[in-house]
Amino acid sequence: MCGIVGYIGKRDVAPLLLEGLQRLEYRGYDSAGIVVTSPKTPGLKMVKAKGRVRDLEAKVPARFKGTTGIAHTRWATHGAPSDVNAHPHMSADQKVAVVHNGIIDNAGDLRRKLEADGVEFLSETDTEVLTHLIARSTAEKLEDKVRQAVRVIEGTYGIAVLHADHPDRIVVARNGSPVVLGIGEKEMFVASDIAALVTHTRQIVTLDDGEMATLKADDFRTYTTEGTRTTAEPTTVEWEAESYDMGGHDTYMHKEIHEQADAVDRVLRGRIDDRFSTVHLGGLNLDAREARQIRRVKILGCGTSYHAGMIGAQMIEELARIPADAEPASEFRYRNPVVDPDTLYIAVSQSGETYDVLAAVQELKRKGARVLGVVNVVGSAIAREADGGIYVHAGPEVCVVSTKCFTNTTVAFALLALHLGRTRDLSVRDGKRIIEGLRKLPEQITEILKQEEAVKELAEQYADARSMLFIGRVRGYPVAREASLKLKEVSYIHAEAYPASELKHGPLALIEPALPTVAIVPDDDLLEKNRAALEEIKAREGKILAVAHQPQEKADQTIIVPKNEDELDPILMGIPLQLLAYHTAKALGRDIDKPRNLAKSVTVE
Ligand code: F6R
Repeated sequence: MCGIVGYIGKRDVAPLLLEGLQRLEYRGYDSAGIVVTSPKTPGLKMVKAKGRVRDLEAKVPARFKGTTGIAHTRWATHGAPSDVNAHPHMSADQKVAVVHNGIIDNAGDLRRKLEADGVEFLSETDTEVLTHLIARSTAEKLEDKVRQAVRVIEGTYGIAVLHADHPDRIVVARNGSPVVLGIGEKEMFVASDIAALVTHTRQIVTLDDGEMATLKADDFRTYTTEGTRTTAEPTTVEWEAESYDMGGHDTYMHKEIHEQADAVDRVLRGRIDDRFSTVHLGGLNLDAREARQIRRVKILGCGTSYHAGMIGAQMIEELARIPADAEPASEFRYRNPVVDPDTLYIAVSQSGETYDVLAAVQELKRKGARVLGVVNVVGSAIAREADGGIYVHAGPEVCVVSTKCFTNTTVAFALLALHLGRTRDLSVRDGKRIIEGLRKLPEQITEILKQEEAVKELAEQYADARSMLFIGRVRGYPVAREASLKLKEVSYIHAEAYPASELKHGPLALIEPALPTVAIVPDDDLLEKNRAALEEIKAREGKILAVAHQPQEKADQTIIVPKNEDELDPILMGIPLQLLAYHTAKALGRDIDKPRNLAKSVTVE
């Protein structure tokens, strides 16, 4: 989705901002723009272009100098992708320039009012409303102009504002769309995503909703939209700039699939407590007494994170014997849920910024619930809003489709389930068994990834399928869900996941030679039941690709996955299917890292 990057300091700002925009390309966009100024040569210079950042770069003239600037990649919402609709948006007097992420809900009303007052709009965007509101404010200070403007808009925004008469500052504001400040030595950065900052600084300040900031070259201050000063201590981000390089792989998806053994090693590191056969989860903020009082667990997330939550719920039920389930956060928040004080709510989000999840957390907090976060991005909105939680330490995930974050999230849930289990009735013996299983994971992942060539051949065979069915039972079902999502989003092949136990109740009608089935068949107590499902498919001449711990007679092909503990098997069984999705998409020539119509973090509804 849209990206913002800004800089104020002494350096030539245009190349720096263009490089920042390139680092945000992975989020998906359709046009880009940049505006620069400097205290020595006031006045705003702007260039915008439909298309890629390189198209914008080609349009930037040689004499486009400045030491202060803001830039943007736009994902069209109000108005088609075009040069005119690209951000920044400038006021008629060329004094105010604004870049904006998010959606202004009352833009239509405000636009009509402004037009009635004689304002001429150049673009179809909601953002232009903001530009005119700021430009028309009679307040002296830029901060007050912006404050007045954001107080009349409804909706979500992350904005950065430049003013020709105030070239010594950038004013930014956040409500529902991330804004991160990067603190440098006599220079300051702003971006909607840490990815654009890490080559320059590791000192980060993340704004809260309702917060604004003024950036000057050697100083920054934060305050609320009401004008009250807030304290903002910079935190240090651990992510390396190199994590954003492709490292010899052809896509980020491929790179991130192959990073999983290391990533899992990281989520485990320093957390296992062999003495008590449990794990330490420092940020949980939940003591043993409180843990024992939990009567239910409700996990909320979207898309892949929701699927990781489904696996997490099963682990918590199995290991801690606490009733647990997962629900899409996007559904939960709209059904006026009954919020129960004895339920532990867990918000799962890779980015920590997904609007539907954040809104669910805010609703829960408002009703007095205890909410934990299982999040990858340190200091993100959901991590800060939650009462405690677990960081999944997958490192930055650049590909729009999630792979390593999914795997690390499921491991984080295994840690939580073990921790909760050991505060309740899980025996030392079972605790030890799970710990041994966890320790085996990185090596087993490496073993799975060694089968890439074989999976690639399978993918090439299945690439012409029009549709695929994914089935699994109990532990295998969320794995099937996630594998089906992965295939459809990256290859655009229609895929559907169903509980294997439900085949007879409908989907069996679909089975024929042209519809391949991918079956998750773990060696657990349901093995025979799963085999019976394969028989039923085979009897109807359906093709079967099994992911199993041993060859499956009824399957046309079986991908063998190393066996772990039954409860932990779901962490591993989806990994070959990430490769299947990747190689299918590759065989079909898809834009693997940026599937059509999708964005990395969905910070709007
Ligand atoms: C799919 C995918 C999405 C995200 C979803 C939630 O591969 O990545 O389904 O999982 O948009 O995003 P986060 O986890 O950032 O809340």
